[in-house]
Parts: sequence; C-alpha cells; structure tokens
Amino acid sequence: METTDLVLTILHHLLAFSLAGIIAAEFVLIRNELTPATLRRLMRVDRHYGMLAMLIIIIGVGRVFYGLKGWEFYVYNWVFWVKMAIFTTVGLLSIIPTIRFIAWNRQAGMDNAFRVPVQELASVRRYVWLEALLFLAIPAFAAAMARGYGI
Ligand code: HEM
Repeated sequence: METTDLVLTILHHLLAFSLAGIIAAEFVLIRNELTPATLRRLMRVDRHYGMLAMLIIIIGVGRVFYGLKGWEFYVYNWVFWVKMAIFTTVGLLSIIPTIRFIAWNRQAGMDNAFRVPVQELASVRRYVWLEALLFLAIPAFAAAMARGYGI
C-alpha cells in the first residue's frame, strides 16, 4: 500500500539521519581531551545508538516486506546484502567504543583524577572514524539498490 510505503520511507530516512547525527556527535566529542562532563555526554549520546539501530532494523525490514517493490526485489539483490553487511559491520565496530565509554565513566566516577589513557582514546578514535567512513557508504549502496543495481 502506498501510504504504508510512504510512512516507512519517511521513518527510515529520519532514523538514518539520526544515526548519522549520533556518529557525528561521537566523532566530534572524542576529538579533544575527555573531561568528566564530556564523558557523561558521550554516554548519553551513545545510549541512543543501540535504540536507533534497533528501530532502523525494524523499519528497514518493514520496507522489505511492506514496501511497494516486494521482498523478492531485495533478497535476490547482492547490493542489498552489501548494504546489510556494512550496516552490521558498523554496529559491530561500535561495540568497543561503547564498552570503553562505560568503563571510562565508571573510573571517572570513582577517581576524580582519572584521565582517559591516551592509547585507549586513540584506539576508540580509530573505531569511530572507521564507523563514520563505512556509514557513508550505506546511502550509496541504498541508492544503487533502489534503482535495480545488483539484481
Ligand atoms: C537493517 C537495516 C536496513 C534495512 C533492512 C534497509 C532496507 C531498505 C529498503 C528496503 C529500502 C527501499 C529501497 C527502495 O526504494 O527500493 C531502503 C532505502 C534506503 N535506505 Fe535502508 N535499510 C537499512 C538500513 C539503512 C541505514 C543504516 C541507512 C543509513 C544511511 C539506510 C539508508 C537508506 C537510504 C538513503 C534509502 C533510500 C535509497 C533511495 O531511494 O535512493 N538504510 N533501505
């Protein structure tokens, strides 16, 4: 049904932009030295990541089954599966930063003099940078798949 497709499309785009916003916010927040206040902000931002990722999966799967083109259009399309693989990789890459943010916050809460170890911060920066880079590829594959590439 056209209205269902429209609503799912609108939600899909809003969620995709929100997720991009979360990754961008983390990218900016970890650029400088992390104060306890920045650490708390990072935690708050990061908490929304999992929630938005879950929602985008639900709405995305909804588009596959209730979208105008029908599920056969996607499941036999390799560009669709590349898009899924990139999305999954971005999700897996986000696990390490999340674990670090939680650990750093806990340590900062117990010890006022706690400073984030330079090497750990450098490694988290690399993860977030890679996440952001891969995330940029998702809309490119989405656009190609929507136009029938990969069938
Ligand atoms: C499990 C996750 C996801 C699923 C199952 C999914 C599925 C879909 C489906 C079925 C379409 C419709 C394509 C068409 O019109 O034929 C679509 C479009 C789109 N998706 Fe996703 N998606 C997912 C995640 C994402 C993410 C994380 C982004 C982030 C950028 C994204 C960006 C887009 C864009 C920009 C379009 C519109 C493409 C166009 O019409 O040019 N999707 N997606």
